[in-house]
Amino acid sequence: MIKVDSIRKRLGGKEVLKGISLEVKEGEAFVIIGPSGCGKSVLLKHMIGLMKPDEGRIVINGLDITKASHEELLEIRKSMGVVFQGGALFDSLTVFENVAFPLRKLLKLSEEEIRQRVELALERVGLQGVENLYPEELSGGMRKRVAFARAVVAMPKVLFLDEPTTGLDPVTSATIDELIVNLKKGLSLTLVMVTHDMRSAFRVADKIAMLYEGVIVVQGDAKEIRESNNPFIRQFMEGSLEGPICVKLA
Ligand SMILES: Nc1ncnc2c1ncn2[C@@H]1O[C@H](COP(=O)(O)OP(=O)(O)OP(=O)(O)O)[C@@H](O)[C@H]1O
Ligand SMILES: [Mg+2]
Repeated sequence: MIKVDSIRKRLGGKEVLKGISLEVKEGEAFVIIGPSGCGKSVLLKHMIGLMKPDEGRIVINGLDITKASHEELLEIRKSMGVVFQGGALFDSLTVFENVAFPLRKLLKLSEEEIRQRVELALERVGLQGVENLYPEELSGGMRKRVAFARAVVAMPKVLFLDEPTTGLDPVTSATIDELIVNLKKGLSLTLVMVTHDMRSAFRVADKIAMLYEGVIVVQGDAKEIRESNNPFIRQFMEGSLEGPICVKLA
């Protein structure tokens, strides 16, 4: 369904992606893990067509999105839902208008159809009676749920999630992971999730790829990764200072 083929990208004079290849099959939950600054969000932005690689290609449902026209990209975006890092809700819009946004932008629906779809999407994520509130009036966990409702309201086939549980307490994180798994089942979604939370990764993933300094250092089935003796995986799971991962602050 999604094929990332040898992509490279330079940003701000630095090579951020250094030849990334991966494949996501239909119905699969593919999770990309790795330390802060390793290029996870940049990779995700390439997969949704927001950034173009310097080299390589990204094929979604047979279409090379690095060469697609504006119209083709708009069409393919209809099949994608995205939860951005931090949620990226519009502060000046109510919950209702935040969730309705992709419908107004991508589809031509009546106000009544929009109202029904927004209600259904909010119900799917377990929110009720918050339509007229603004994002700042919600808790962090509720804001995440609104971001999820917005991402699934247009009934996408693939859901992209960038750090959906970062900044939440462990219990709220677990409920958000459960919501992700339920949305995947309920809507027959393919998932691509980026996270540095290993517990989240194992709760959600069928496949896991670890990114480090713009390279995929390990990938495999979630079970293989959990049992792996790979030093990158061990160090990341244990949060240890000892190992191949070295965090640079620049
Ligand atoms: N638009 C940009 N211009 C210049 N450099 C960028 C840009 N976007 C990202 N970078 C750089 O690319 C590197 C990877 O950034 P990215 O946001 O993908 O990291 P990440 O793995 O998502 O980190 P985190 O876990 O903290 O979200 C960083 O060094 C960042 O400064
Ligand atoms: Mg990021």
